Amino acid sequence: MVQGTLPSDSGRPSVVESCSLVIFGASGDLARRKLMPAIYNLLLDGMLPPHFAVVGTSRKDLRHEDFRAGMREGVEKYSRRPLDRSAWSAFESRLFYHRGSISEAATYDGLRSLLTQVDADQHLPGHRLFYLAVPPDAFAPICHGLQRAGLAYPPDANKPFCRIIVEKPIGHDLESARQINSALAQVFDESQIFRIDHYLGKETVQNMMVLRFANSIFEPIWNSKYIDHVQITVSEAEGVGTRAAYYDKIGALRDMVQNHILQLLCLVAMEPPHSLDPDVVRDARMNVLRCLRPIAGKEVERMAVRAQYRRGSCRGIDIPDYRHEAGVTPDSTMETYVALKLFVENWRWAGVPFYLRTGKAMPTRASEVAVQFKDIPQILFNANPTMPQAPNVLALRLQPAEGFSLRVISKVPGTKAQTQPVEMNFNYGDAFSAGTPEAYERLLLDVMIGDASLFMRRDAVEASWAWITQILDGWKTEERRQLPGYPAGTWGPIEADQLIGANGRAWRTI
Ligand code: BG6
Repeated sequence: MVQGTLPSDSGRPSVVESCSLVIFGASGDLARRKLMPAIYNLLLDGMLPPHFAVVGTSRKDLRHEDFRAGMREGVEKYSRRPLDRSAWSAFESRLFYHRGSISEAATYDGLRSLLTQVDADQHLPGHRLFYLAVPPDAFAPICHGLQRAGLAYPPDANKPFCRIIVEKPIGHDLESARQINSALAQVFDESQIFRIDHYLGKETVQNMMVLRFANSIFEPIWNSKYIDHVQITVSEAEGVGTRAAYYDKIGALRDMVQNHILQLLCLVAMEPPHSLDPDVVRDARMNVLRCLRPIAGKEVERMAVRAQYRRGSCRGIDIPDYRHEAGVTPDSTMETYVALKLFVENWRWAGVPFYLRTGKAMPTRASEVAVQFKDIPQILFNANPTMPQAPNVLALRLQPAEGFSLRVISKVPGTKAQTQPVEMNFNYGDAFSAGTPEAYERLLLDVMIGDASLFMRRDAVEASWAWITQILDGWKTEERRQLPGYPAGTWGPIEADQLIGANGRAWRTI
C-alpha cells in the first residue's frame, strides 16, 4: 500500500496528511509502552503519512540518540510485532528530543525552533499533534506555553492544523472535570481536542456498532420488548500492582466506570446514528448519558455496591489484602470493585435493568457485554416450572478471545423431547487472519486524519461525571458502614449477588 493512503472505509478520508507528533511526558511509561509501539505498527502497515516526525519532550536531560534508544527499547518490549531492524533504522532518524520544563517559556521557544528545523528537514507542512502524556494539572501550563509560543492557535483554513490529545483522568469529579475542560478550551477549539478513552479504540468495541447496525436481525429485537436485561463485566485478574499511589485516590468507579464502562453502555444502548459523521455518532452516544436515571441519595445504597479485595489468590498467585499493598493507606476505604444497577430512561429501554460490574483481583481478565433475552412462555418445551429453560443470550466478548456467542436452545439427539442450551460461537482470530491492531494505533491514526468519532467530547465527559459524582456523594454521606470485602480471586462480594439476585437474576459465569 502507498504510504499515507488508507483503504476505502465508510467515508473516512483516504489520505493522512504529513505532520509531526509532539509528546509531552516523552520519558514516561505511556510513550514507551503504548505510543511508540503504536506508531511503529502504523509504520509497518504503511499507514503513517508520507512525511512524519516525532518530537519528544520532558524534563530529563536526553540527547536525540538517547530518546531514540529508549523508544526502540519500548518497541522491542511492547510492540505487537517484533522489531524489524531495517525498518526501525530508516525510521528512527525522524525522532527528536527537546528537554524542558513545562513551566518555562524558554521550553516552548526552544520547541518552536526545533519544530521549524524539523519541518524544513523532513519536508513537513507544519501540521502538529500535541500529545499530553502528563498528569492533568500540567494541561493548563502546557496549553498556555504552546499558545504564547505561537504553536497553538484556533482552527484557521490558512494555517497548518494543530490538535491536542489528552488522556484520562479528566478530573476526579464533575467540578474538576469542568476545570480541566475549561483550561483546554481557553486555548483550543473543541474540534482540536481529542480526549482518549482507549476502550473506544479497541477493535471489538468498534465492532459493537457494526454488529448492531450492519445486521438486520438484531435491531428489531434490541429493545425492552425482547430484552430482559444487559450485563457488562470488566474484570481484571491483577491487584492494584504498582499503581497504588494513583488508584488509592481514585477507586474502581472513577477508574473504570466513569469512562470505559459507560462508553460500552452507550454503544449497547444508543439509537442508530443517521450517519458516521463523528459528531452524529457522538451525539448518539451522548443521548444515552442524558437518559441515565440518576442514582443519588438513598438510591445509592440500593443500586450501587462497592467492595475491596482481601487476601486471596488468583491462578496460584497470592494477592495480599488491598490495604497491605505497597502504597495503599492501611485504613483505606477505596473500592476495588463496583457493581451497579441502572436504567436508561427512554422509549427503547424502559424498565430494562443494566447491571455493570468491574473489579481488580477477580478470577480472570475478561470484558464482556451480555444481552439476555426474555424467557419464552411456560408452554411446550418450557412447560416444567421446576426446570425453566435457559434464556437466549448474546454475549459480546471484548477481551480476551474477542468474538461473540449466541446461546440458543437445541434438541438433544435421541428419542426424547429433551432440550439443551448450545453456544453458537464466533471468534475474531479464527475468522480474520490479520492481527488485531492495538487501540492506540487506531486512535493515533484518527487524530492524524482528524476523525473524532472515537474520542470523548466535552459534554459526554461532563455528563458522565455528573452522573458518577452523585454516586460518589452518596457514598460520602452514607453512614460509615463496614466496606464489604471479597477474597482476591473471586467474583466480588455477596452484596453484588444480592443486587442482581433481587429480581431473580444472576451474574453470568465467565
Ligand atoms: C485503565 C485503568 O484505564 O484501564 C486501569 O486505569 C485498567 O486500572 C485499564 O487496568 C484496563 O484496560 P485494558 O485495556 O487492559 O482492559
